Order: sequence, then C-alpha cells, then structure tokens
Amino acid sequence: MTEQHYDRPPVLKVRGLRVYYETPKGDVLAVDDVNFDLYEGETLGLVGESGCGKSTAAMGILQLVVPPGRIVDGEVWLGDKNLLALSEEELRQQRWTKLALIPQGAMNSLNPTMKVSEQIKDTFDAHESKLRSKASAKDRVLQLLSMVGLPARVYDMYPHELSGGMKQRVCIAMAIALNPSVIIADESTSALDVVVQRIVAQTLLKVKQALGVSMIMIGHDMGLMAQMVDRIAVMYAGKIVEIAPVKSFFTAPKHPYSQLLIESVPSLRERKPLKITEGITHDPRNPPPGCIFQLRCPHVMEICRVQTPPMREVALNQLAACHLYDPDVEGKPTNVRDVVGNP
Ligand SMILES: Nc1ncnc2c1ncn2[C@@H]1O[C@H](COP(=O)(O)OP(=O)(O)O)[C@@H](O)[C@H]1O
Ligand SMILES: [Mg+2]
Repeated sequence: MTEQHYDRPPVLKVRGLRVYYETPKGDVLAVDDVNFDLYEGETLGLVGESGCGKSTAAMGILQLVVPPGRIVDGEVWLGDKNLLALSEEELRQQRWTKLALIPQGAMNSLNPTMKVSEQIKDTFDAHESKLRSKASAKDRVLQLLSMVGLPARVYDMYPHELSGGMKQRVCIAMAIALNPSVIIADESTSALDVVVQRIVAQTLLKVKQALGVSMIMIGHDMGLMAQMVDRIAVMYAGKIVEIAPVKSFFTAPKHPYSQLLIESVPSLRERKPLKITEGITHDPRNPPPGCIFQLRCPHVMEICRVQTPPMREVALNQLAACHLYDPDVEGKPTNVRDVVGNP
C-alpha cells in the first residue's frame, strides 16, 4: 500500500460489526466486532481459514444477512452515510450503485435459462437505469464485456456455454454495471484452476484501475493475495487480528496467527490454499474470554485468558490485536520471534 492511500479519507469504514447466526444451541458469533477502513483506490485482501466469517462480514456490510443470521451491532460508513441506519429503500439505492458484491459462488448462481446479455441488463433495470433505449443498453453491455476481457459473442451466449473463468468475468461485469465506488469480491478466484485464477484476479485489478474503485478481495490463497493486494486483513473466528500493508505482512507478520498462516504456505509461488490442520478449536457459540486465539497460540500468557487484546499499531500502518505488543504487559515469553521491542 502506498502512502498516498492514507492521505485520503477512507471510502468505507466498518465499525463494531457483529453478525450472529441463531442456532438451537445458541448464537454463532460469526462476525464479532470487526473494524477496518478501506481507502480510496486500494485493494484490501481479507483472508482467513474457511468458516472464520469472511462471507458473513461481506453480507453484513451490504446488509444482505438473512435469517438465521442477523446484524447485532455496528456501523458501516460509505461516505457520510451509515448503511446500517438506512431504510430498505435508501439502502437499495446505495447497493450496486455505490457498493457492489460479487458473492461467493456467484458464477454458479447465473440463471441457466437467460442469455448473458439479459442478465447483465437486469442489473440496470433493477435500478431504474438512466439507460432508456435498447440500443444504448446493448452498447453498455458490450462495453462491460470488453472491460472484463470477454469477446462480443458472449452477448448472445448462455451460462452453460461458458467456462468457469468466463462466468466469473460475467459476474464481475454485473458488479460494475452501475459504476460502484467499492467492490467486494468474495472468493472470485476460488474453484478455478491456477491459470484461470490469475486471469480472473488480473481482470478484477484491471477493472479496479479503469474505474478507479476500491476493492475488498476475499480469499484464502495467500500467494495470489501477495501479488494482488495493497493491504491484508486477517480474520480468525469472527475477529480481525491483524491488518497490514502487504509487504510488511509477508516480511514481518506480527500476530502469532498471521505468523502461522505464512509458515503454512510452503512457497508463496506455489499458491496453495490456506491449510492449517487444527482449524478453529473453540465452539463459535461460546468463545473463551480474552484473546480469541489463545487456545492455539504458541505464546499464550495469563492475560490472554482474561483480557481481549485491542488492535494497536505495532509497526508503521500495521495493526495487530495481541498482548505481546502491549508495553505494560510483563512476563512476556522469551521464545518469541520478531515480536517484543521490534516495532
Ligand atoms: N446459516 C447459518 N447458520 C449457522 N451458522 C452459520 C450459517 N452460515 C454460516 N454460519 C457459520 O458462520 C461462520 C462464518 O461463516 P462464513 O462467513 O461463511 O465464513 P467464511 O466465508 O470465512 O468461510 C461459520 O462458523 C459458519 O459455520
Ligand atoms: Mg466464505
């Protein structure tokens, strides 16, 4: 992330977001006090193991959570508007025109009975588009297809005639149809082979640059993230535990969980999916008091079992939620790599 991102006000501010799922045995705290800023023009990677709450956070930001899920608390500021305080009608005007989501698995949710062009046009129609005439709608769809690198013949094709990568690019075209200023792409490159993943990720970045939008790229492929994003936010069991410029993150990760994540990638060039054998070890309905990562942390201290560590700046523009970086905590373990006194 270049310094210039920080000079501008954030385009999206998420504060204290909590999204829970009701289950017979109690609420699953899927997103539990998530806070972050997205700066103008930046690409923020949101990573973490499967089930840590990435998709739920995305749905929460757009207020698209459906039962048994519910937004329990939080603010989502897009410019001067708190999305979570808007009426459904006001929200509808913001969604897709200002803030667009490419949902996880979107390419499998395309309507098999509708031509690609009709599906893209539907996104205009749903928002009383300024595009009145049929001719201009066609031009606009062709322009969108070209922006995502698809040939014009895709216009008259059906989803089953397209490869996975092409379908994913149709979903990107739909997301940008109304010129949003923020795009959230949830696992848009997962479930594709490595070469196609790269093409789709590059398409996203190209579109991002052409439109000057900010983007949240959700994924679990650390190698791809390393190459594509400006900053990385790491989620564990419903919380963001570290957020850092990508270079600092990969050279000097601060949170013990981030360190584990990076160690688990055999080689960044191999672009393997995130795989940590243990997974989240506590019951998401009943997290332990104190630090969310304490049960797996190799450096756990007494205070970690009692107090939730706040996010603090541990290096330039690098935030981590970990007591190891609290100057007032005594008795820190001595076997800690690159931690204490090395901000
Ligand atoms: N409908 C649901 N009912 C109960 N729990 C759910 C539901 N959907 C998701 N969850 C739980 O919420 C947590 C976060 O899920 P999700 O946001 O899909 O994670 P990710 O996208 O990081 O894989 C998981 O523990 C998951 O089991
Ligand atoms: Mg997900």
